[in-house]
Amino acid sequence: MRGLILSGGKGTRLRPLTHTSAKQLVPVANKPVLFYGIEAMAAAGIDEVGIIIAPETGAEIQAAAGDGSAFGITIEYIEQDEPLGLAHALLTAEPFLGQSPFVMYLGDNLLRDGIVNLVDTFRTDQPDALILLTPVPDPEHYGVAELNDGRVARLVEKPKEPQTDLALVGVYMFTSSIFDAARSIEPSWRGELEITDAIQALVDRGLRVDPHIVHGWWKDTGQVQDMLEANQLILDDVKESIEGELVDSRVEGRVVIAEGARLERATVRGPAIVGHGTRITDAYIGPYTAIGEDVTITHAELEHSIVMSGSSISDLEYRIEASLIGKNVRIGRGPTLPKAYRFVVGDNADVQVL
Ligand code: G1P
Repeated sequence: MRGLILSGGKGTRLRPLTHTSAKQLVPVANKPVLFYGIEAMAAAGIDEVGIIIAPETGAEIQAAAGDGSAFGITIEYIEQDEPLGLAHALLTAEPFLGQSPFVMYLGDNLLRDGIVNLVDTFRTDQPDALILLTPVPDPEHYGVAELNDGRVARLVEKPKEPQTDLALVGVYMFTSSIFDAARSIEPSWRGELEITDAIQALVDRGLRVDPHIVHGWWKDTGQVQDMLEANQLILDDVKESIEGELVDSRVEGRVVIAEGARLERATVRGPAIVGHGTRITDAYIGPYTAIGEDVTITHAELEHSIVMSGSSISDLEYRIEASLIGKNVRIGRGPTLPKAYRFVVGDNADVQVL
């Protein structure tokens, strides 16, 4: 079996971070979202993986994931020159996938229980496709499935009036029959060849599409709120490990302090993770916070947030919370009067002051 990970897409709902960086590389618990998908493939014994990349962010994705050897697999990169939909991406990868059955994994999806059992089920039952479904409170934002006697009856992409609350999770298992199905469909209202419509075409042709209901958590990390929730869910499972240096500092609960990090007069209350080379001084780090590498935090308090590498935060009067802070960002107090806010922020940034 082969693997296909989709890592193109513009990430418009994660701007401004995605003006300069791929959404799949935003870290969750200090690891790029994309790596969770790659690791899920490797754990399921899928060692030939193709990654679909976009012209704008492809180089960055390649630099991060490399040839796959760090994950014990081989990775081939496949460029999709235009974002014409998930089924279009799949057709772009047809030469790589050939006749092999494959797992298709959307690079911004996180699945707590991985895909090992699903791949086993797919191998044993040999349907033409296996789709993953999970109940959600807002099905209108996803592909939605209607079942009949436990079989897939109908699939609709982002219906205005969903008939069920069963969303399509961004992980699919296909045989090569999906290519003809993808060739048979027309672009949707958003101008994309929808994978949901291609799977519906399989159903229409009388091919066997098995549903599997996911019970562990699933996150599509398309928006800031989802990113923070994913961070929380992953941090909930971290194992304590203190390798950095603690000076007059307190660490409570499940906390990871990477080697080369230094805390001075700081309190960290887990679950939380602090990356290599980071300095935290006279500061408080609260639950569900992930701080990347080479970050400086001085005289500040943070919780339920993600801070990416190279950033510095200092001298704040109030606690930072529910925030996603990009790379090399500086947040601090200016030295001069008049007392005023000074911002240099990118397009589509979202700043809230008390
Ligand atoms: C895509 C699929 C949708 C699926 C979702 C899962 O949506 O089109 O059917 O439910 O991924 O993450 P998109 O992220 O393109 O809006």
